[in-house]
Amino acid sequence: MKLYEIVPLCALFTLTQQAALRDECSCELINSEKAFPHDKLSAVEDSVSKCNSNITPQKTLELESLLLGLAHRLPKLQEDVSMLEKEDDGELYAVISLQVIENELMEIKQLIDRLNSSTLGHERLTADTAKQLEDLKAEMQEMETYDTMQVVKTQQVNQLLKKDLDQCRTQPDPAHQSTKPPRGNCPHGQFLNITGPIVYTAGEYPGSYKYGSWGRDPKPQAGKESWHWLVMLTSSNQFSNYVRLYSSLSALIVGVSTPGNVLISPSNPTTNTIQGPNVVLYGEALYYNCYNQDAVCRFNLTTKTITSLQLPKGTRFNSKGNFCHLDGCYPFTDLDLATDESGVWVIYTTTQDFGNLVLSKVEEGEPLRLGQTWHTSVYKQGVTNTFMACGVLFATRYVNKDVEEIFYLFDTITGKQRFNVGVFINKMSPNIHALNYSPVDQMLHAYCDSFMVSYKVLFE
Ligand SMILES: *[C@@H]1O[C@H](CO)[C@@H](O)[C@H](O)[C@H]1NC(C)=O
Ligand SMILES: *[C@@H]1O[C@H](CO)[C@@H](O)[C@H](O)[C@H]1NC(C)=O
Ligand SMILES: *[C@@H]1O[C@H](CO)[C@@H](O)[C@H](O)[C@H]1NC(C)=O
Repeated sequence: MKLYEIVPLCALFTLTQQAALRDECSCELINSEKAFPHDKLSAVEDSVSKCNSNITPQKTLELESLLLGLAHRLPKLQEDVSMLEKEDDGELYAVISLQVIENELMEIKQLIDRLNSSTLGHERLTADTAKQLEDLKAEMQEMETYDTMQVVKTQQVNQLLKKDLDQCRTQPDPAHQSTKPPRGNCPHGQFLNITGPIVYTAGEYPGSYKYGSWGRDPKPQAGKESWHWLVMLTSSNQFSNYVRLYSSLSALIVGVSTPGNVLISPSNPTTNTIQGPNVVLYGEALYYNCYNQDAVCRFNLTTKTITSLQLPKGTRFNSKGNFCHLDGCYPFTDLDLATDESGVWVIYTTTQDFGNLVLSKVEEGEPLRLGQTWHTSVYKQGVTNTFMACGVLFATRYVNKDVEEIFYLFDTITGKQRFNVGVFINKMSPNIHALNYSPVDQMLHAYCDSFMVSYKVLFE
């Protein structure tokens, strides 16, 4: 008979004996240990979760975005002031320059005010949190004394061992290491990694439009080099009829749109207005999926005219060839427009390609025409978005609400593809609705659940 069987039997025997003596039975449990303070533990747990929700990566990012905004703004101001000095002939031009500088100063003041208020907020938060952490540490140390059987310590050791084991498993086998990514047509060297987010902002209409796209024109007109653009799907999360312009990144962050909206059509949606979020601005023209057509539209912002480019027969459109994650698809993402060092591209799928991604170069001249086309073997529904950099197509997939993975690439120079890219993007919100690379500054612009986020693309 084993020990654990003996114990209950003894107990039964004692109980029976006591029952025989008196008509009621009672058990006495004597615990030589101090009782564990459960209420204290749950109080500590509460404080920790409060602490966690007070301090979020968003807090520091907000500061970084504001500082970045300032950093962009100040050289512009300096430039304008030196221009004013040159023009200082007491004539009309000087007056105009002075007005421009006044506007600049106003915007800089707005930035500084926001910086000031978030800095004050952070100081308070840091002081509070440091104190809370000290208290929590003391309480946890006190509670550790209850762990007389060393349960927690053993668990910690086990966890360390498990981590070592995992590391051992995931370490690449030198014999099977993948070859380096193909080089593509890249002036910066080979694509390596993504860092950031560097900018994270709710912009001018916080939370109002879940779907959209934003970025920077890679081939701007002279004087508009620092302009940024924004397209929000303002009708049913599917359609839009204008592009909104900002004179700088900081203007976009503080939500001051000086040039304002450039209207494609007064109604929305209608023939040749925007359908779906994956649009790009290139050479002062907006490229997008035309409403209710399997075609790319180009809206010339200068002349306000629209040219369209019919895609091959069998191209999926009207939300029939979307990007998807495990739990569903992103509506009206049939056509993904992209820019890189070599211009404009369109990524889509067709019936004859069985839903795999197809990539075509868009030749931006007059007339607009479809250039070379490549057929990939990655299934579009297994992809959440794509972007182009240096002639290489990159595709992402949803890992979890915090992480997206760039898992696939297709090099148009060599025709080679790879499914094991393994570069991770830290997300600020779960869904990436648009992703586009800006060859001017090697930034990756993402529109995520109404937030505008950007990352830096690192090359070797
Ligand atoms: C920052 O804000 C505080 C409190 O609102 C104010 O007293 C202070 O003057 C501000 N500083 C600047 C540089 O605006
Ligand atoms: C890419 O960046 C992430 C975080 O920024 C880092 O953890 C990772 O090691 C980097 N990967 C490479 C291949 O440099
Ligand atoms: C827009 O129209 C103007 C005037 O016709 C032209 O010079 C410019 O090249 C056009 N832009 C694009 C991107 O087609």
